[in-house]
Amino acid sequence: MKLDGTHQRSIRRTSDGKGVCILDQRELPWTVKWVELRHAHDAEVAIREMWTRGAPLIGATAAYGLAMALAEDGSDAALDRAHAQLLAARPTAVNLKWALDTVLATVRPLPAAERGAAAFARADAICDEDVALNQAIGAHGLALFRDLHAKNPDRALNVLTHCNAGWLATVDYGTATAPIYLAHDAGIPVHVWVDETRPRNQGALLTAFELAGHGVPHTVIADNAGGHLMMTGQVDAVIVGTDRVTANGDVCNKIGTYLKALAAKDNGVPFYVALPYTTFDAATATGADIPIEERSGAEVTHVSGEGGSIRVTASNAANPAFDVTPARLVTGYLTERGLLASI
Ligand code: MRU
Repeated sequence: MKLDGTHQRSIRRTSDGKGVCILDQRELPWTVKWVELRHAHDAEVAIREMWTRGAPLIGATAAYGLAMALAEDGSDAALDRAHAQLLAARPTAVNLKWALDTVLATVRPLPAAERGAAAFARADAICDEDVALNQAIGAHGLALFRDLHAKNPDRALNVLTHCNAGWLATVDYGTATAPIYLAHDAGIPVHVWVDETRPRNQGALLTAFELAGHGVPHTVIADNAGGHLMMTGQVDAVIVGTDRVTANGDVCNKIGTYLKALAAKDNGVPFYVALPYTTFDAATATGADIPIEERSGAEVTHVSGEGGSIRVTASNAANPAFDVTPARLVTGYLTERGLLASI
């Protein structure tokens, strides 16, 4: 997507090829700051502390982290140690395990001296594939949005999204945002309701930043506003990303997604989940089996914005970071293979 007028990916190799540059998402949208990750430990910290985030981008960052570890020490012990450390950085997004296992399977048969270069090459391929998957999701989503807009051709297509499943959560285009960008570029008038997404405000800070950069009309709303907007006919479709879809089609995504799905169901608004195959977890039967990340209560007791962070309650807080939307509430899964009614 475009940043300062030029097309850029959210992760790229450093000029010497030995590390990667990522955007420090904790600083956005106030400061656009690229940081270099040069060791597996840097990648682990960047994922855990959410300098970088979003299921596919976590996977890509971890793949490079494993490559950096192997470039320093290609032994089996180093491989297994780095794989375990990176895997533990965040528990919920299955892309993390997928990417680490993919790199591991590539390098395991190789001599130690060749593993670093091979892992970097595999991580590069993971990034290229992520871009292609998102472009395919976007193309199928464009057809869907064209049909939805044709039902009310005299007004903009109003799409509601939660969290950030955009360029900043992937290598490029995003999953949930890919159809939005393609529809906008194709001349379909699309307007996005952006859930602010407390507690970390990925919608207000990141999705809004992205959409503004691409020139897509959008409005940030309080998380509690979506039900009212759906009930009053101001939402044509909800589209979200996901951190993991289980074998039965349950969808794990940012906390609050489930409430949007309930409101959508009650109001006859279609609820779409955009995902590449790397987010599908056939080995996990249902959403009840997914580990839900519990983050610090400080993310709830404090709000960060331009100029710093302020405390907004005098009490303690709990902070489950994800929830599970049951498959029965999902209208369709938008994948690189097309729109699927069931998984
Ligand atoms: O905690 P985060 O910000 O990493 O959560 C991210 C989300 O919930 C995204 O919507 C999800 O990973 C899909 S990203 C294409």
